[in-house]
Amino acid sequence: MSEKISVLIDEVTVDNKIKEIADQISKDYEGKSVTLLCILKGSVFFVCELAKRITVPITLDFMSVSSYGSGTESTGRVKIVKDLDESIEGKDVLVVEDIIDSGRTLSHLVTLLSARKPNSLKICTLLDKPDRRVVPMDVDYTCFEIPDKFVVGYGLDYDQKYRNLPYVGVVEL
Ligand code: IMP
Ligand code: MG
Repeated sequence: MSEKISVLIDEVTVDNKIKEIADQISKDYEGKSVTLLCILKGSVFFVCELAKRITVPITLDFMSVSSYGSGTESTGRVKIVKDLDESIEGKDVLVVEDIIDSGRTLSHLVTLLSARKPNSLKICTLLDKPDRRVVPMDVDYTCFEIPDKFVVGYGLDYDQKYRNLPYVGVVEL
């Protein structure tokens, strides 16, 4: 069965905003190099577009996490499915997320990464649903705040589908 998807943020708008955020990141990290930490799989499309437009030197690493527990609500207790290849000690780390919902996953991840003693740790997200927040989170770079709707595309999936849509869409169930 296929779902009807309506466009929430079109391709040009997403691309322009990513460019704007990349410019801001390039300014903020001037004279430094930044380790982009991509949280698989949802952030893959976003991190590629972002990285191409950042003008300071970058390195790229990947982590895959899953939250414990069943149901649709994340518990925030994070299990590392694939860990980083490199140490982040002393590095300027920017965590790149697809979406922040309750904030549980990210808050646990931040605790876990902070313990590895990076020089700095910031967060960049493509999408944020502030109305859904359960755990308060300081997000350094947000491309778009969106209403409490289930979205797909630009890396985000519904049952592993629709990640490759070049825009952000809403699933009409
Ligand atoms: P949190 O711990 O509740 O913040 O969970 C965030 C994670 O839930 C994201 O990394 C996504 O994998 C998933 N998620 C939350 N909202 C959506 C959505 O609207 N579409 C697709 N995935 C979502
Ligand atoms: Mg995710």
